[in-house]
Amino acid sequence: MERRPIGIFDSGVGGLTVLKAIRDRYPDEDFVYFGDTARVPYGTKSERTIIKYSLENARLLRKFNVKLIVVACNTSSSYALDILKRELDVPVIGVVRPGAVAAVKATRTGNIGVIGTEATVKSGAYRREILSINPFIKVFQKPCPLFVPLIEEGWLEDRVTYMVAERYLSELKGKNIDTLVLGCTHYPLLKNVIGKVCNNITLVDSAEETAIETGKFLGGEVKGNGEVRILVSDMSRRFKKIAEMIMGESFPVEEVSVDVC
Ligand code: DGL
Repeated sequence: MERRPIGIFDSGVGGLTVLKAIRDRYPDEDFVYFGDTARVPYGTKSERTIIKYSLENARLLRKFNVKLIVVACNTSSSYALDILKRELDVPVIGVVRPGAVAAVKATRTGNIGVIGTEATVKSGAYRREILSINPFIKVFQKPCPLFVPLIEEGWLEDRVTYMVAERYLSELKGKNIDTLVLGCTHYPLLKNVIGKVCNNITLVDSAEETAIETGKFLGGEVKGNGEVRILVSDMSRRFKKIAEMIMGESFPVEEVSVDVC
């Protein structure tokens, strides 16, 4: 039987947190991951640009004969998911719905905080998804635009990162939230910092729930050690190191041009 990989993309390293969760569950599957490091961040870009980049990334993955595409970027999922589903001839999964499902499962008080990029927060995608599951939940959102560059720089435990986190999160803590959605696939890398700043608040990310969702599209027929190919649009200084830290093992990273489409 022909082996077809699962395609996953993000603007940079963040989506690897989703790749890791899916691979942990389905180690026999092959994966092609694309991090658009030449154009990161997406979270500060306009809707039109986010959609354009997302389509280009998905078409790039399609060239690798992927059987399924996981949009491991909340910003792309917030704006481009429906278009990608329409345009592509393979199933497409986003991360916002799974994150919302995980948050609703976790909250006891019904007060949920959501942090994400400026674009994700502006789209209101999390609020919509959470309220579609339970309309009585109160959702408090806060964009944290400095987190992504700090993460791409590798400042995961830096004093500056703590200060930025304190400043962004103090407002949300005042809202009595018991659950905080890390609504950007980069943010799980700051779990230590965010967890210390928000003690007693449950941190939720989409990775686990997205892996469960992915399983619904897999037939379980693939056997043997799965291969992982990691592609980037720009070989950034820190990518390999952070990728290794997230994946817990090292994979070769190849540079590709997105305009192969
Ligand atoms: N990791 C991405 C997300 O989940 C995007 C971060 C960015 O490029 O701004 O939104």
